Amino acid sequence: MSSDQPTELKTHQPPAALVAAARVSGMAAYHALVAEAEADHEAYWGRLAREFVSWKTPFTQVLDSSQAPFFKWFADGTLNVSHNCLDRNIERGLGEKTALIFEADDGAVTKVSYRELLAKVCQFANALKARGVKKGDRVVIYMSMSVEGVAAMQACARIGAIHSVVFGGFSAQSVRDRVQDAGAVMVITADEQLRGGKQLPLKAIVDEAIALGGCETLKNLIVYQRTGGKINWHPERDRWLHEELAGQPSTCEPEWVEAEHPLFLLYTSGSTGKPKGVQHSTGGYLLHAALTTAWTFDLKPDDVFWCTADIGWVTGHSYITYGPLALGGTEIVFEGVPTYPAADRFWKTIEKHKVSIFYTAPTAIRSLIKAAEGNAAVHPKNSDLSSLRILGSVGEPINPAAWEWYHANVGGGRCPIVDTFWQTETGGHVITPLPGATPMVPGSCTLPFPGITAAIVDETGADVPNGSGGILVIKKPWPSMIRTIWGDPERFKKSYYPAELKGYYLAGDGAIRDKDTGYFTITGRIDDVLNVSGHRMGTMEIESALVSCTELVAEAAVVGRPDDTTGEAICAFVVLKRSRPTGEEAKQIATQLRNWVAKEIGPIAKPKDIRFGDNLPKTRSGKIMRRLLRSIAKGEAITQDTSTLENPAILDQLTQAN
Ligand code: WTA
Repeated sequence: MSSDQPTELKTHQPPAALVAAARVSGMAAYHALVAEAEADHEAYWGRLAREFVSWKTPFTQVLDSSQAPFFKWFADGTLNVSHNCLDRNIERGLGEKTALIFEADDGAVTKVSYRELLAKVCQFANALKARGVKKGDRVVIYMSMSVEGVAAMQACARIGAIHSVVFGGFSAQSVRDRVQDAGAVMVITADEQLRGGKQLPLKAIVDEAIALGGCETLKNLIVYQRTGGKINWHPERDRWLHEELAGQPSTCEPEWVEAEHPLFLLYTSGSTGKPKGVQHSTGGYLLHAALTTAWTFDLKPDDVFWCTADIGWVTGHSYITYGPLALGGTEIVFEGVPTYPAADRFWKTIEKHKVSIFYTAPTAIRSLIKAAEGNAAVHPKNSDLSSLRILGSVGEPINPAAWEWYHANVGGGRCPIVDTFWQTETGGHVITPLPGATPMVPGSCTLPFPGITAAIVDETGADVPNGSGGILVIKKPWPSMIRTIWGDPERFKKSYYPAELKGYYLAGDGAIRDKDTGYFTITGRIDDVLNVSGHRMGTMEIESALVSCTELVAEAAVVGRPDDTTGEAICAFVVLKRSRPTGEEAKQIATQLRNWVAKEIGPIAKPKDIRFGDNLPKTRSGKIMRRLLRSIAKGEAITQDTSTLENPAILDQLTQAN
């Protein structure tokens, strides 16, 4: 923490009993692992890859850097992820153990054992094969949170098909773009999803996506019947999942793939242009998903693990579909929302299933703090949370006040909080406390995961001293790193391995290390990426969506501003083709534009504020001065140098307009 960070923050020690029994027990054990990795990076990762992953053909080379930054890990080894997550656990005697506990929106519970999940995944895999899906084909999964969603991902892995899960909140346009970019041959979806007692369309959005055109590679649409709601049916293309599965054998020989075979693509926002398809490997990714589940969450045979993320995000991939299953864990798959039927749903669900490890996002915590402050009935103290032993946080910085509340009220003061910093591109945690080792400081993600060479450098790649902020990089490659951007290797190199950074991986975040402890605190993105409720949004993406409303919008600039609940909020400055609206009319047009953005990208991208101006603040060369817009959005007085500004009067207009 820098001097302007609250240094008086309390350090929290992990409880002694937890330390004693932890998989990584105490700081000496942590330092020993770091030292082992420092002494021989490849030998370290090779050892863990043999311990945590089951290989069909063992690898003989750990790392191949000959085509850096296109690194290859364990390249001549072969394996299958679904075999690692299912068959291997049954071979270990866990066949009857509960793999998944499905907690439906209405509270109904379905438990699925490892044996049952394997049978389901095999049937699913056979059904995909029967429709001609083969190794290397791309399959888009646009599904609700369900056992079927997890099974769909595992089924793709079983046959070597590459899945691309699209979050169920994205629009038809976004689905179309992802199907098109990946050249997907199949979409797996549900008729509808249930969230907070509401039925929301999924299949209808896929229909709309296909109707937009450009999805010629798509041959089949498989539909899981979740609600039985009315949907349109195209018999030449649409198939019911239950009909596809009926009669399929419940065994399926895994497709043994090379370690570098792509396991999945996951589209995420960058600072420019359209979302990029982050490509992950099979072997290296699985290793880190399993290893971090073991060490960061200390997952043990009796734990009940609950990661509240959606499978549409990377957190749901690594800590629902892959990590916990690779270790033979029991985990919750939650369909609903934290506020339904009341804002104590998380606490009641922890009590109901005796959850021992709970992993959620700061946004959720902050909104549940507000709810509990407004209504004592939904306070966590009314639920029995004594089963909890470890808490986690992910997706955005957790502010110390929320950390302390989470620690005291949810964790009863006895559960360590792992504030896990990572990204879609990193595949798994890269900076995080280990719960039975690391003393915790609220607001800091503490220290690098052993083997991850995180560091802070300046623009030339030179190390900066602790206490001064800089650019977060990872110096050496690691097994679960992004392999490329699907179809755009040049963009991969430019985005993550810029020439000036000496071959280091550029995370895109700023960070600072504490002078004394070396602890990392993330200071926020250094590019034009916003983090709203833990969701990554590119400002350019939202700007393009706004200007694509060609009837109305002439120009738009989007910036973020801090928000108490969502972390950041989206603020859009818009110049219309018509005269600048005010009052009621401005409100109406703002609503219209918000809905437009929801239709183009998805409701999560709706700007919170929209302000109209006759123009945007620009330099004489025509460049939009975003730093000024950021100040206006925050409601700050403009103290920056405005001498290069061509049209200073516009600032007053934008400051007043709302
Ligand atoms: C941010 C989510 C602070 C960060 C797993 C990163 C965090 C982006 C943390 C990745 C954290 C994630 N503390 N910031 N613990 N975790 N971030 O790809 O800006 O959706 O670059 O992956 O979220 O978001 P993504």
